[in-house]
Amino acid sequence: MAIRNILKDGEETLKKRSREVQSFDSRLHMLLDDMKETMIQAEGLGLAAPQVGILRRVALVMDATGEILELINPEILQTAGSVDGAEGCLSFPELYCIVKRPERVTVRAQDRYGKYFEASGEGITARAFCHEIDHLNGIVFTDQATKILTAEDLENMRQGNG
Ligand code: CO
Repeated sequence: MAIRNILKDGEETLKKRSREVQSFDSRLHMLLDDMKETMIQAEGLGLAAPQVGILRRVALVMDATGEILELINPEILQTAGSVDGAEGCLSFPELYCIVKRPERVTVRAQDRYGKYFEASGEGITARAFCHEIDHLNGIVFTDQATKILTAEDLENMRQGNG
């Protein structure tokens, strides 16, 4: 396994649509293993392949139990509710924005062997599903943000004031 370089804001790759995965081979497994290691090292809750320069529909999301889900060719099946919340991205260090996301999301995806499964999440996990799938469509969270949080906003949130 190897740590991969995470592309930062300004890289054209982050604005491109990723292609479907068709080969569930050792190359895909290596990408997933490297992405997992990269995400853990960067302390992220999610990571999409275009963030490491690979335009394939592959994403990782950490669920509420701390398990890292591998999502290949993921699609949102169902959403419920809508909530404003703070969000960050490993490609935008130090930047946090308010983004409106569903409260609950169910996704359908393939695992590393091509088998289909469904996964549901709420709160931060629902947010991460949407954020990572957006990456696969060349959409970054600043495109969706209703407000960019200032250092003062963040300090207030840490103190539980807002
Ligand atoms: Co991101």
